[in-house]
This record gives sequence, C-alpha cells and structure tokens, in this order.
Amino acid sequence: MNQTKTSMAAAILALLGTSGLAAKPATPTAPIHYDADHKTFRIDAGKITYAFGVNDDGILQTLYWGSRLAPDDAVGNATPPKSRSAFDAIGANTPQEYAGWGGPITVMPDLKAHFADGNRDLILRYQNYKIDDGGLQVTLGDKAAKVTVILRYVADPATGIIGRSARIENHATQVMTLDRVAAASWNLPAATDYSLRYLTGTWAAEWHVRTRPLTPGATDLESRRGSTGDENNPWFAIERGGHWNESQGHVWFGALGWSGSWNIHIDQDVLNQVRITGGFNPFDFSYRLQPGEGLDTPVFYAGYTDDGIGEASRLMHRFEITRILPEGPKPKLRPVLYNSWEATEFKVNEPEQERLAEKAASLGVERFVIDDGWFGARNSDKAGLGDWVVNREKFPNGLKPLIDKVHGLKMSFGLWVEPEMVNPDSDLYRQHPDWVLNFQDRQRSLGRNQMVLNLARQDVRDYVFNALDKLLTENDIQFLKWDYNRNWSEPGWPQVAPEEQQKVYVTYVQNLYDIMRRLRERHPGVEIESCSGGGGRVDLGIMGLTDEVWPSDNTDPSDRLSIQDGFSYAYTPAVMMAWVTGSPNWVNKRNSSLDFRFLSSMQGGLGIGANILEWTPAEDATARSYVEAYKGIRATVQQGLLYRLLSPQERAPYSATESVAADGSQAVLFAFLRQGQEAQAYPTIHLQGLDASSRYRYRAIHGTVAPGTPAVASGAYWMSHGIDLGLHSDFDAAAVVFDRVNGGR
Ligand code: GLA
Repeated sequence: MNQTKTSMAAAILALLGTSGLAAKPATPTAPIHYDADHKTFRIDAGKITYAFGVNDDGILQTLYWGSRLAPDDAVGNATPPKSRSAFDAIGANTPQEYAGWGGPITVMPDLKAHFADGNRDLILRYQNYKIDDGGLQVTLGDKAAKVTVILRYVADPATGIIGRSARIENHATQVMTLDRVAAASWNLPAATDYSLRYLTGTWAAEWHVRTRPLTPGATDLESRRGSTGDENNPWFAIERGGHWNESQGHVWFGALGWSGSWNIHIDQDVLNQVRITGGFNPFDFSYRLQPGEGLDTPVFYAGYTDDGIGEASRLMHRFEITRILPEGPKPKLRPVLYNSWEATEFKVNEPEQERLAEKAASLGVERFVIDDGWFGARNSDKAGLGDWVVNREKFPNGLKPLIDKVHGLKMSFGLWVEPEMVNPDSDLYRQHPDWVLNFQDRQRSLGRNQMVLNLARQDVRDYVFNALDKLLTENDIQFLKWDYNRNWSEPGWPQVAPEEQQKVYVTYVQNLYDIMRRLRERHPGVEIESCSGGGGRVDLGIMGLTDEVWPSDNTDPSDRLSIQDGFSYAYTPAVMMAWVTGSPNWVNKRNSSLDFRFLSSMQGGLGIGANILEWTPAEDATARSYVEAYKGIRATVQQGLLYRLLSPQERAPYSATESVAADGSQAVLFAFLRQGQEAQAYPTIHLQGLDASSRYRYRAIHGTVAPGTPAVASGAYWMSHGIDLGLHSDFDAAAVVFDRVNGGR
C-alpha cells in the first residue's frame, strides 16, 4: 500500500498512538484556531464553521455548528446556563463537547466509569490543547480521579466534515472500569422543527430510509449484534424546517466508523436542545483500564449543509472517496465482475468455472470471482467453514490452473472467504472447540450452522491472519470477498477473568482491523469487499480497509432500486456492487428484462451473477453492449456527483438518478418505471448539476426520448426545460448520457 496515503481514521488514530490502525502520516486538516481571549476553538472547513469554548467551570461547551461565518464574526463565549429550578442545577443541561458522568449533569454523558474505591463521579475539565498539521487535540481531565481524556478533531477542508474521537487514560493507581464510552457528542441548538432521517432494514431488505419528527425524548440507533448490522446503519441526518427536500434545507449528518456493536443516541431535551452521542454500544459493555492503560474510541464523523439531503449525501460520498477509502483520494474504478454464486451455489468445480470464465471474458468481464464452496468439506452451509484449504475433489490440481486460465483471459481473480466463522463440522472446530465466543458450559447457538470465532484471542487472530496470508502468498489472487454471515450470541470469553470478558466488543474489532491492515500491507495488490450476508457490515471503519461493499443479497433489479437509493444516502456508489442475475429472481420470483437488470446494476459497480452458460447469443450480445457502454460511463457513475431525481422509496412507481462527472464533462441519467400509471406520461426529468452555459449532446444507451428533443442543448435547457422519456409499461427503463460538446460552450 502506498504509505503516503492515509485515511482520516488512520490519521486520527495515528496521532492518538493506538495500535488499531496503521501509524501513517497525518491527513491535512483544515485550519483550527484558538482564541485565547475568549477561550474558544473555531474550525472553518468547506462551507461550515464549528466552534466550542471553555466555560467558567472549565467545561467544553459547543457554541456553533452551521454555515460558514465571516472570519471576524464572533462565535460567542461559553457560559454556564442559569439554573432553571432545583431540578436543573447549574450546568446540568450544558451542551458539552464531551461529558463525563459526574456532578449535576443530566445530558447524556460520553463517558461513564466506576472505580475500585466505589467512586462513580467523573467531571472532565479543560486542561490544555495542541494544534498541528494533523488537527486539534484537547485534553480534559478529572484531576482528583487522575483520568485524562484526549479529544481529537480533524476537519476535511473540502467537505467540512469533522472527524472526532477520544482517548481515555487512567493515571490513577486503581482500576477504572468504563461503563459507557462515546467517541463524541454533537450538539444542535434548541428548535422545535427538527426531523431525523435514518436507515433500517434486514437481510435481503436493507437500506430502508425512514424519517420521524424529533420531539423531546430519545431515539437510539444501534447494533447490539457484535457487528455493524443492517437493522440500523451507523448514519443519521437531522433536517430542520418543514420545507426540506433533496436540494433545500439545513441538514446535520454523520456516521460512525465502527464495525462492532455501536450506538448513536439522539436526545432532544425539555429545552429542545438536541444532542447526538455516538460510540461503543454501552449495552453489555465494560472495559477495565489498569493503571497506566488507555482506550481509543472509534471516529464519529459529521457534517453540515444548507443545500438539502442530496448535498449531504454528495459531501459524504466525496469524503469517503477522498478521505476514507484505503486507496483514496483516487481509488481505482470497480472492475466489471463475474461471480457464479447465484448460478452454481456450492457446486463449484474446475471445468465449469473455466467455462464460466471463458464466457465471462467474452462478455467484457474484468474480474472473475469464485464464491463459497471452494474449500474444506464445503458442499453446503453445514460444513467446512474454518478450513481454508482448497477442496481437492472440486479442484484436483489446486486453484492454480483456474487462476492461470482467468489471468490468461485478461481478468483478475478473486475468492470468497468468511474468516471469522467456523462450522462445528470442521477440522478447525474439532481441534479448537474453545476458539468460539461462548459462556462456560452454556449452549452455543448456531446461525446458518456456524459460530463466531473469538477474534479477540491472540491465537485466533494469528490463525486467521496466517490462513489468509498463506492463501494469498500461495495463489495469485487480486480480490477477496470477505463475508460474515451471522451475528453474535453468547459473547463470552471464558479464557480470561470474568471482569475482562466484555473487552471482546472492542478487541475483536480492533483485531479484525489489524488483520485486514496487515494483509493489505503484505499483499498490496489485493482488494477486499466487505459483505455480511449483504449489507450487514458497511460503515466508515471497515470502509477504511476495504475497496467495495456488497449492499444486499437481494439482486432483484426492482427491489434493488430502493436498496441502492437508500444506500446512497450515506455511502458512495464508488463502493456499491450490483449484479445482473437470473430472471425470475430468486428473492421474489419476479421476471424482468435483461435491459432492466443491466440498467439497475449499472447504478453502481457492475457485476454479473447469472448462469451465463445458459444465455442465448442474443442475450450475450445485449450483455456485451451494456458492459461496453458501462465502461464508458463508470467513472461518472461510480465517482461522480449523484443527484436523486425521483425517489423509489415507499414502493414508488418511478425512480431516476443522475450522476455528473466531477469535471462536469458528462452526466448519466438512469430512469426506471416499475409500474405503468394509467395512461400517464413519465414525469419530465429536470437534470441537475450541469454547467448551465455549456452545451451537452445526449445519446441513449437504452430507451427513447420524446420526438423533437434537441440533439444538443445547453446545460440550462436540460436542467430547466428538462427531457421527456418514453417509459410506459411495467419495468421499462432508460439510460441517457449527456456529453459536453467540444470546447464546452
Ligand atoms: C452470503 C453472501 C452471498 C454468498 C453466500 C455464500 O449470503 O452475502 O453473496 O457469498 O454468503 O455462502
């Protein structure tokens, strides 16, 4: 890996000196200023200003977070609010940047701890700060308890997104037990017209977008599952005012970079102040710090825009591409991929995979991936997980002949792995039954016939690293699809003392990241996809170590429109893989045309997962032309600016998206009609994000446009007059490309 590149998470953790991620050079941050007269800190980045100060009690208090202010605008002084009543003591409601649970505090604390001597009171007061190229570090502490908390702020100059994290250090001579540890809290001013947008879902139905008004009371978005999960994704957006839409309105948004159990607690208090606290999930959490020990939190990222939720998503996308992905700021485009999982399931074998590879190459595919079933005694999901050796019945000569064949066909080669799991029916489990998460002498629940290896154990961590390192050393592999197909149960760790066992929630994930980081360092050409039975492990933590993600096992092209749309609120299409699979689709038996399937999948990283050996010459020709067309637009689709034009949420009949190349030279419009609406015409599409005075020529990849549509027109025309598409019947679709004509104007 190029050592000069670094993700923002790595920069923060490098400065904190953690072992979690690589100690790479720091990412440049936007300027951060300290005003000694007013004891205020101020960040100006992108289009935002963020400010906080030290109040008379030595408490850090949020002062402002919103649109960029003029350089000489005052951001105010931090002052403790007056006591309202005996029930609201002075300081109880102060919007603290990072609050310890102690004193009269009633806002949600970021840190709650108890000490060996019985004390549970922790008051974090300002001690000092440091600003350098890597960002701002503010040290808080409770002098009596001998605890320090180092808050870290890094701001992205382009998007204004701020990454915050904390390091907790125990300098006392007694053990300190952490009961609750957040990365950061974000405070919004008192208002009565906030609404929350969040993502929810389940297997094969991920990425549903939901909104609800905020009223006094709390909402927890969280996972108690041991991993990110798809019940909620660690992303939020809070919009203000009743008039918001894609391109208008104040939006505060954020995402947590953590792939274990997490919690984002959104609280509106009786004074209508809103506080968003995110970090390790406090449920079943306990982390003991011996004297001299410390703990680093994940990074909680957040941004603001007054250009609506569409712009909030585009800021996130840009931030992920440039600051999170391991190959950022210019990650490679996703190659067109073939994977036979839906076609062959576990029945993989050398001759058939070779035939599939030949066919895939003839369609223009660039990466060939063998999914589950190539290893151990893996003929179904009942056996073999944990035994990462090639199944010689299926591949008598090992993987080399197939890999050579794939390379000879000018494709890269990839392999499916699920390294954190074990089937009871495996050599690994027979040898090491004590390696799984479990409580002593209690049941071990299965999920998909498998258990979770306790990656927090050093021997398990080493086994997983060595197995994958060997696989990548002995075989010329360019890609791993890294799967994770169940959630935790009985998360015990009987080999350590009872009071140390809950560290598993932190150490497991740290070790997962460590394995991925070391594999990337030792095998710099290998890319990784994060998959968890679909989109169950997508977050800014794992994205710092992987190149793409699998958003859902649901490959129905109509369901996928909603899934992909929901995904796009938080995450960039640059990492979102989408396959063309068989019709009828296995999820819902829905039939759809090959055109509809291709166009739906072309909204992300295009893959093919159908049994292409059964395709007719006509289907081959269709596929070939879409793959070729896709290669001409994929830079725009994957890494351009995404505009959601017609929302497919709530089973809406229409769906349209537009992607605009970063340099404005191309725009790609996808439009879908799920169900014809009486005799109604498809809504006129008004493009967005074009240069109004440049001229663009349209060409349809598929579908028709209304007669009389000019071949070339200004950006203003396409955006204001719009374009009418000839979509009428169920599962009609169109893709239209707008290329800026020579010279632009
Ligand atoms: C999970 C993945 C699928 C496939 C299977 C293999 O369900 O999400 O894409 O890899 O495992 O068992």
